[in-house]
Amino acid sequence: EVWNPNGKYRVISTKPMPGTRWINLLIEQDCRVEICTQKKTILSVEDIIALIGDKCDGVIGQLTEDWGDTLFSALSKAGGKAFSNMAVGYNNVDVNAATKYGVAVGNTPGVLTETTAELAASLSLAAARRIVEADEFMRAGLYDGWLPHLFVGNLLKGQTVGVIGAGRIGSAYARMMVEGFKMNLIYYDLYQSTRLEKFVTGMYGSLSYGQFLKASGEQPVTWKRASSMEEVLREADVISLHPILDKTTYHLVNKDSLAVMKKEAILVNCSRGPVIDEVALVEHLKQNPMFRVGLDVFEDEPYMKPGLSEMKNAIVVPHIASASKWTREGMATLAALNVLGKVKGYPVWSDPNR
Ligand code: DGY
Repeated sequence: EVWNPNGKYRVISTKPMPGTRWINLLIEQDCRVEICTQKKTILSVEDIIALIGDKCDGVIGQLTEDWGDTLFSALSKAGGKAFSNMAVGYNNVDVNAATKYGVAVGNTPGVLTETTAELAASLSLAAARRIVEADEFMRAGLYDGWLPHLFVGNLLKGQTVGVIGAGRIGSAYARMMVEGFKMNLIYYDLYQSTRLEKFVTGMYGSLSYGQFLKASGEQPVTWKRASSMEEVLREADVISLHPILDKTTYHLVNKDSLAVMKKEAILVNCSRGPVIDEVALVEHLKQNPMFRVGLDVFEDEPYMKPGLSEMKNAIVVPHIASASKWTREGMATLAALNVLGKVKGYPVWSDPNR
């Protein structure tokens, strides 16, 4: 699909993206916009090289693509100056290779914070209240009347929520769970982010959050920054993972860390699949039927490790944490702005190297 065929700058999007604002932004600034409409969901390096061709000023790509040396070299040879991932995570992008070939890299933070946190909260609630199992039970025609023990789950109020990775999304999730469900909070951040600190120590009018709850007749919640990840795993009832994926967070949750967690804990992952050792997780789910997980991401996407799909104590959704209309249109717009800025000689709106 081609928009503004006579535009001076050739910008490619490897996938159709939601909304038209991003297209309009580019064509208003003299870009020819080419959108790849191939049916194949995941494009290979060869597919993308063919798209880039001999002349290409910038590319908007997706987290399913492998943006390494080969692609940045091809883009640079075609005169390309900019690449933007339509995602906040950029573990699929070799930023050093991009820099080597003089290609600026952008990502799309901010617009997906609340949407992603809302999915993590949804998975936490769905796991706590066994919503997917109950839905399957109804549809299978098994409901033959109210029973005191039917699908009994956990009350979140008063339980402890653990957050690992207290950046934008982890902090938004923590606020939702603490403010919305009056959970106690324990969190750990590998980079010592102070974002969540500002919430727990911040003021509600002239009151601290604790005083605010007291003043509204609520039982105050407690919060603490853990000194190790293990402390969070040991103490929390619901744990949500929000780190970036890199060498230090690969298999952050593994056989040993799972063993530390409460037998009835809930683990939620909306970050990246390889943060959890999925084989160890399947084994843990088998051994501990009261342990539950809510997963939006998988180690070998789009596949699940053998056994995971059969586990009743797992809720699995296909990497949809940022999938709200407003957010996806925003991500497309930011990605276009990133590329446009560089192509036109302005700074990249969101450069992960900043
Ligand atoms: C991201 O942005 O990194 C998500 O995984 C997709 O929205």
